[in-house]
Amino acid sequence: MGLEIREAVITDVEDIIEFEKDCFEHPWGEQSIFGELINNKSFYIVFYEGEDVIAFGGYQDIVGQGHITTMGVREDKRGLGYGKKLLSLIVEHAFRKDIKEMTLEVRESNITAINLYESMGFKIYGKRKNYYADNHEDAYIMWRFDI
Ligand SMILES: CC(C)(COP(=O)(O)OP(=O)(O)OC[C@H]1O[C@@H](n2cnc3c(N)ncnc32)[C@H](O)[C@@H]1OP(=O)(O)O)[C@@H](O)C(=O)NCCC(=O)NCCS
Repeated sequence: MGLEIREAVITDVEDIIEFEKDCFEHPWGEQSIFGELINNKSFYIVFYEGEDVIAFGGYQDIVGQGHITTMGVREDKRGLGYGKKLLSLIVEHAFRKDIKEMTLEVRESNITAINLYESMGFKIYGKRKNYYADNHEDAYIMWRFDI
């Protein structure tokens, strides 16, 4: 089935909600997704395979810094390079918007995501203690300063 990669738009909300249920333990839900898609300081990308979203992610431009807010690949599509492709498109978009630095938080147990971010030039610069409400896990703060 063909893969369509493009900027996420408001009419994608329902498909993204379905995707999130499968991808994340703690999905954002409709209001947050909708809020992000109408925010002109945010940019999100979707990967569609047929009618289904198989990857989604993006960032907010906060005073010239790119904050990656979410990204994920559907469970049965992981390990195929989609995560890296998604992250590189996010970084490329930020570069075109003249953003020089990008940051994100990631669970310290999320080795796959940490590997992905490190493979794209992000480095751990600090920790937020008890950042995640569900299990009080710490978050690593990662940055890339040379976008
Ligand atoms: C993190 C995530 C987006 C990675 O997507 P993916 O499509 O599986 O990743 P890719 O196939 O593009 O692999 C990219 C890199 O991730 C790392 N990686 C991928 N699978 C891995 C695994 N099983 N174990 C360790 N590292 C892994 C590797 O560094 C890999 O690069 P390499 O192939 O050059 O070694 C995906 O696992 C996911 O959606 N996880 C759940 C949601 C999530 O944790 N999002 C991040 C929140 S901060």
